[in-house]
Amino acid sequence: MVHTYEKEGKLKDGSRVVLRPMVAEDREKLITFFQSLPREQRIFLRHDVTDPEVIRSWTEHIDYSRVFPLLALTGDRVVGDATLHRIPRGWKRHIGTVRVVVAADYHNRGLGILLVHEMVELATELGLEKLWAELPLSAPGAIAVFRKAGFSSKAVIEGLVKDLHGRSTDVVIMVCDVGTQYG
Ligand SMILES: CC(C)(COP(=O)(O)OP(=O)(O)OC[C@H]1O[C@@H](n2cnc3c(N)ncnc32)[C@H](O)[C@@H]1OP(=O)(O)O)[C@@H](O)C(=O)NCCC(=O)NCCS
Repeated sequence: MVHTYEKEGKLKDGSRVVLRPMVAEDREKLITFFQSLPREQRIFLRHDVTDPEVIRSWTEHIDYSRVFPLLALTGDRVVGDATLHRIPRGWKRHIGTVRVVVAADYHNRGLGILLVHEMVELATELGLEKLWAELPLSAPGAIAVFRKAGFSSKAVIEGLVKDLHGRSTDVVIMVCDVGTQYG
């Protein structure tokens, strides 16, 4: 099965991380990871990840065919999390949505790009045709990561989402044609 893999990834500074799917036993590690994210990094995340109940519901209801969560770890510490979301039936059955978050002390070391690349590779194995990502227009670093991994900007929707402070924010829709990435 696709979710039994474990890989080693190399960052720009030569350090290494283990990439493997999330399992139920990762709950405490994930709570620590999400609670350590600075507020400005959590501002656009969809859920209140500081609430242990949110993490518990993720780890107790793992269904890799709907949400595939990939973790990056150093030892026992989670330093990055990427998810591939799918809707198995209907007109979006060939599309996956990607989300990624990296620990602040691991920024700009290549981990974000490594995780998004891994999502593209996974999408290829799963036979998906397109990947979709929604990013705040005000986050050029995040947009750069997805562009480097093969995504391109398709639309900007003004004021689509509200951040933690309730401020409306513009969102960039980025899409990756999976087939053309790896032939
Ligand atoms: C987006 C995020 C995952 C990036 O993680 P990361 O590990 O720092 O990313 P990487 O180190 O792989 O790549 C960063 C790249 O962006 C570039 N970059 C950073 N800031 C930039 C900016 N302001 N403008 C343009 N490029 C920028 C870096 O130069 C680097 O490219 P390089 O490797 O070619 O030099 C991380 O910032 C994060 O967790 N953000 C909060 C969650 C989020 O917004 N997720 C995206 C929505 S799903």
